Amino acid sequence: MPCFSAIDSVNKRIFSERERKWIETVWRLQDELPQSKKEAFASNHGLPYLGGNVCRSLRLAEIARISSVTLLCGIFLFKLVRALRPVLCLELGTCIGVSAAYQGAGLELNRRGKLLTVEKQRDLIVSAKKKFTRLKLNHRIATKLGNFNSTLADLAREKKAFDFVFIDGHHERDATISDFKSLQPILAKQAVIIFDDIKWSKGMREAWNIIKQDSRIAIDIDLGRMGICIIEGTRSGKKSFNAILK
Ligand SMILES: C[S@@+](CC[C@H](N)C(=O)[O-])C[C@H]1O[C@@H](n2cnc3c(N)ncnc32)[C@H](O)[C@@H]1O
Repeated sequence: MPCFSAIDSVNKRIFSERERKWIETVWRLQDELPQSKKEAFASNHGLPYLGGNVCRSLRLAEIARISSVTLLCGIFLFKLVRALRPVLCLELGTCIGVSAAYQGAGLELNRRGKLLTVEKQRDLIVSAKKKFTRLKLNHRIATKLGNFNSTLADLAREKKAFDFVFIDGHHERDATISDFKSLQPILAKQAVIIFDDIKWSKGMREAWNIIKQDSRIAIDIDLGRMGICIIEGTRSGKKSFNAILK
């Protein structure tokens, strides 16, 4: 199964020369950020560790440190895209574009597929777009400034069918369940949905436990930090797995 082969190849560090080059290129750009003095507004929806109802200006470097996927998770998203070869990908929660860059790099190596990434904060989208331009991934990654709710409704009206979705946005129980429900009309018959931070709060753990029981999900994989749901479009028994990324 492609998801397990992606987990296995990350854990065994199996990369082609071209994959290594792309990972290094994306990582190097991410690593430049700590020098950046630029600031942007950050709300606690995307930055759980701030606590409370915080919305304040932070340096982009700080936002990246707190919110962006880790190198290991970025590489995993990249390898998952490589293994699944999706056609239409959706990301909820762009921030400064780190996770989108790893997915976009995977699509570029696959020589097919597009990613639409959604973010409500303009200054973060601006920073993400700069990153995609520098990586020459603009033809693979499109950004959408807006709220998840209204954007998902627009995409449903456009009759989009996504086969790969990464949810890394509003890290609260009800919001996560609501995003999952709103996704249903725009999923392809066979689709993979990845949730980030499924364990970081009681609410997120509850959301994951509810979502993975949904009858449309044939397989769920608990990776500790991330959770994967596979929709197969056929009536087969449900299976649950645990795996680790190391
Ligand atoms: C954890 S960060 C995303 C990190 C990014 N995926 C990465 O790893 O590089 C979550 C982002 O989702 C955005 N967000 C949260 N709730 C949202 C909503 N309802 N609509 C649009 N954007 C939202 C936040 O502004 C924040 O930038």
